Amino acid sequence: MEKQLAVDEHTTLSLPTISNAIEIFSLVNQYRNDLREFLPWVDETHHVDDTREYIKFCLSQYDNGSALVYLLYYQNKIAGTLSFNTLDKSNDIAKIGYWLASCYQGQGLMTKACAKMIEYGFNGLHLNRIEIHCAINNIKSQNIPIRLNFKKEGELKQGIKLANNQYVDGVIYGLVKEDFNLKLTSPH
Ligand SMILES: CC(C)(COP(=O)(O)OP(=O)(O)OC[C@H]1O[C@@H](n2cnc3c(N)ncnc32)[C@H](O)[C@@H]1OP(=O)(O)O)[C@@H](O)C(=O)NCCC(=O)NCCS
Repeated sequence: MEKQLAVDEHTTLSLPTISNAIEIFSLVNQYRNDLREFLPWVDETHHVDDTREYIKFCLSQYDNGSALVYLLYYQNKIAGTLSFNTLDKSNDIAKIGYWLASCYQGQGLMTKACAKMIEYGFNGLHLNRIEIHCAINNIKSQNIPIRLNFKKEGELKQGIKLANNQYVDGVIYGLVKEDFNLKLTSPH
């Protein structure tokens, strides 16, 4: 699997290294009030050592091919992450996950990075199907698969766990290789 993918001249997806822990932790810590609403691990991230452990875990997943977690760099600064959180090689299916620090939101960065990741998933990793699961009330997250022409395939009762063990309904968006094109659709 590639260690780096160029999205455009300002934006890169890159495998984390342990040396990134301080920058990632600082970003999560600065924006934890915004991020914790939909990312339950934020409340479990108290210290830079927690981020170091997470990076080690990501690298072990890279080594055994079970997941692919990239840092999203914008103008040489870490802005968030974009991942194939699960890679199901029996069925050639991956599930995407992402977050962006609030100061990088609203510019189309994640949609553009996802388009690159999806193209790599289908053409580089030979996936056949990519899924994005979102909480039913996470409209900003759902707008990403909508822009990228995923189909809304169904709902998962209490399928997403948020902070404080709160289970909320999830929405599954799916895209198969034969339907993939790079044209964006407006969610509005
Ligand atoms: C989900 C998340 C990454 C979406 O961030 P985002 O900034 O809305 O997504 P993008 O980077 O694709 O930007 C889209 C926004 O930029 C705007 N935009 C500007 N230029 C754009 C362009 N060229 N292309 C697409 N969108 C563009 C869009 O209109 C949209 O803004 P709007 O929501 O006001 O309509 C972010 O809300 C987040 O990190 N949330 C917390 C974590 C989370 O929920 N993760 C997902 C769990 S399932």
